[in-house]
Amino acid sequence: MRERLASRLGFIMLAAGSAVGLGNVWRFPYIVGQNGGAAFVLVYLAFLALLGFPLLAVELGIGRGAGRSLAKALRELAPPAHAGWLGRLGAALASGCFVLMIYYTDVAGWILKYTADYACARPPADPSAAFGALSSSVGTCAAFMLVAVAVAAAVCLAGVVKGVERVTKFMMVSLLALLGVLAVRAVALPGAAEGLAFYLRPDWSRFMAHPWSSIFDAMGQAFFTLSLGIGSMTICGSYVGREHSLVKETGLIIAIDTVVALLAGLVIFPACSAYGIAYTAGQGLIFVALPKVFAQMPGGVFWGFLFFLFLAFAALTTVIAVFECLIAGLMDSLGMRRAAATAVVALAVAALSMPCVLFDGVLKWEDFAVSQIWLPLGALAQGLFVVNGRIGWGWKAFRASVSEGSGPGMPDWMKWHYTLVIPVLVLIVMVAGLVRG
Ligand code: ALA
Repeated sequence: MRERLASRLGFIMLAAGSAVGLGNVWRFPYIVGQNGGAAFVLVYLAFLALLGFPLLAVELGIGRGAGRSLAKALRELAPPAHAGWLGRLGAALASGCFVLMIYYTDVAGWILKYTADYACARPPADPSAAFGALSSSVGTCAAFMLVAVAVAAAVCLAGVVKGVERVTKFMMVSLLALLGVLAVRAVALPGAAEGLAFYLRPDWSRFMAHPWSSIFDAMGQAFFTLSLGIGSMTICGSYVGREHSLVKETGLIIAIDTVVALLAGLVIFPACSAYGIAYTAGQGLIFVALPKVFAQMPGGVFWGFLFFLFLAFAALTTVIAVFECLIAGLMDSLGMRRAAATAVVALAVAALSMPCVLFDGVLKWEDFAVSQIWLPLGALAQGLFVVNGRIGWGWKAFRASVSEGSGPGMPDWMKWHYTLVIPVLVLIVMVAGLVRG
C-alpha cells in the first residue's frame, strides 16, 4: 500500500517546501533586480494567477487522481490506447527533476558553506573575492554539494511520514519564522526606503527596455518557483487524501510561496539600499551583495547566520521533495525498494552535478533549459492531458477529482482557460522570448 502523509499540514508544508526554495530567495530577487523591480513583480504575479494556479491544480490533481508519480499516473489515467506513449512522455518530463537537481544541489552547497561560515563567525572578509574563490574551488563546492545530496537522501530514506513529512514541516515552520524576523529587521534599517521604492513602485520604463526578455523571465520564474511541469508536485498530490478540494490547497500553497518570495525581496532590497549595494549583481546578489551588507551591519554575523540558515532550509526542502519525486518514480516504475532507489538517485545526482561544479556556464544553461523550456512545456502538456478525454484523462473526470473534498471546486469555464488561454499564452511568450529576448 502506498504511504500517505499523516496530516494536512504535512501535505501543505511538503508542497510549499517543494515550491519555496532558491527560486524565491536566490533567483527571484536577482531577476527582479535585473528586470527593473516592481513592474517585473506585477507581471510575475499575473503569470502566477494565469498559469501557476491552474497548472499547479493540474499537477496535484494528476498525482491524487492516480496515487502515483507522473509517468505511472499518466499511463493509468489515459485511455489504454494512449497509455504507452503518455507513460514515456511522463518519464521524459519527470527527468526534468533530475536536471534541476544537478545544478540546484550545487547552489544549495554554496548556501550550506555560507551557513557554516557564519555559524563559526567566519564571514567572508572580501565578499566578491570569496564568492569568486568558492565558485572556482572544486573541492569545496563538491564537498558541500555532497552534503546537500546526503541530507536529502537520508531524509527520504527514512520514509514519507517519518522522514520527508517530519523534516519538511520542521524546516518550513522555522523558515517562515526566520523570514519574518529578517524582514522586520531589514525594513527598519535607515536608508531602506530607496530599496523599498525600487521593489514596490513600478517603473515601466526600465521594464520596457527589454520587454520580451522580461516577460519570458517572469513566466519562467512562475514555473520555476512552483516546480511545475516535471512531476515534483504530482508526487505531493499522490500522498494526500480526499478530504479537501485541491483548488483550495493550490491556493494555500501558492499563497505561502508568494509570501516567501515577496518577503525575501523585502529583506534584500532595503538591506542593499541601506548600505549602498547595487541590486543588479545577478546570480551573486545574495552571495556577494548581502555579505557586504552584513559586514557593515551591527550584529551582522548573527543576522548573516539567520539569513543563510533560512536559505539553507528553503533549498533543502526543495531538494528533499524533488529527491522524493525521483525516488518514488523509480519505485513506481521499476518496482525498486526505497533504499535502492534512494541510493541510485543520490549517486546519479552527485555524479552528474560535477559538470556544474567543474565548469563555469553549465549552471546558467541547465537553469535556462529547465526553467524556460522544460517546465513550461511539461506543464502545458499536463494541462492539455487533463482537458482532452480522447487522448488524456478528460475534463469531467479531472474536474470531479480535483474538486473532491471541502472547499471550492474547479469552475466548468476553466476548461477554456486550459484549452485556449494557457497554450496560446505559453507558446507566444516562449517563442517571443527565445527569438526577441
Ligand atoms: N520551486 C523550487 C524553487 O523555487 C525549484 O526553488
